[in-house]
Amino acid sequence: MLATTEKVLSTSTVDFLPINGTDYVELYVGNCKQAAHYYQTAFGFQPLAYAGLETGVRDRETYVLQQGKIRLALTSPLKGGTEISRHIDLHGDGVKVIALWVDDAVAAFYETVQRGAKPYMEPLTEEDEFGKVTRSGIYTYGETVHIFVDRSQYRGPFLPGFRPWNPRYRPAEVGLKYIDHMVGNVGWNEMNRWADFYARVMGFTQLISFDDKDISTEYTALMSKVMSNGNGRIKFPINEPAEGKKKSQVEEFLDFYGGPGVQHIAVATDNIIQTVTQLRDRGVEFLHIPPTYYETVLERVGQIDEDLAPLKELGILVDRDEEGYLLQIFTRPVEPRPTMFFEIIQRKGAKSFGKGNFKALFEAIEREQMLRGTL
Ligand code: FE2
Repeated sequence: MLATTEKVLSTSTVDFLPINGTDYVELYVGNCKQAAHYYQTAFGFQPLAYAGLETGVRDRETYVLQQGKIRLALTSPLKGGTEISRHIDLHGDGVKVIALWVDDAVAAFYETVQRGAKPYMEPLTEEDEFGKVTRSGIYTYGETVHIFVDRSQYRGPFLPGFRPWNPRYRPAEVGLKYIDHMVGNVGWNEMNRWADFYARVMGFTQLISFDDKDISTEYTALMSKVMSNGNGRIKFPINEPAEGKKKSQVEEFLDFYGGPGVQHIAVATDNIIQTVTQLRDRGVEFLHIPPTYYETVLERVGQIDEDLAPLKELGILVDRDEEGYLLQIFTRPVEPRPTMFFEIIQRKGAKSFGKGNFKALFEAIEREQMLRGTL
């Protein structure tokens, strides 16, 4: 099945919010020390920076890890009754901040707030011996926020106040390169509102739209729009639940997360077979794809460079669009609640998101929902 790409041309030629890429993703988690160990051991992230009691921070601890261009910050509260502990109590572990790398964090704040964004953090310049960083922030869906980061005058490991984190323990990387896209789940009938937010407030354009006829199985459905910034480096699909015979996976997410939030982080690799083999050996759990998927996949997608056997063995999915093909696989949720998970993706020309796999993928998710008693 070919995915359709409806590129909506922007009416304005000046990008009022130029973004260089994703700067970091910050998760609020119950135990950042153990989460950091998990992302090192299972996903091959490398230790980068630390802030906490030993650096003079009294209310929280943060470990920052990096692999390729991906920076993950893991933060836990050091006492109850704080904003972070309230967030974790309501949502469980999850993404709080999607930070965007910009050249001018002050302009990014005023350009977006003047277009209707709700402020999260007024522009703030912080300094230490490595230079200075200016950040500002706005709210997006739910309690998730975007922080704009201008680090052009900084040469430290992460942000002012952080010191290098240099443990002896350093499992090897697994070939994760950069964040391909990050998906938000929003409430019933809220997809258009948030697609419009990214268009109007952040100057994004809509790449693709899927309705419930595209994304449905016998039982469940959802709708999705993919929003992208001017240079295409940031891609945010926005999902909302749709009516089906049973409970949509998006609705399950909303129930357990306590509202809208980040559903998955898709990370790119140049060799998905190698990457997924290593992830699986290190204990990362993936959704199970039935062997029957592989009986017809090549009829659907045509010739591919990879042997089918390792794809089938690992459960990697394949899809093709007008420009090429892609390989992708999805982890099970990485926390106790059935909320956030990761996608590993390798693009070989394709710029779409695996529409041809939606049915197989959602049936796999439904099997898991059945086991959880939430379908
Ligand atoms: Fe995805």
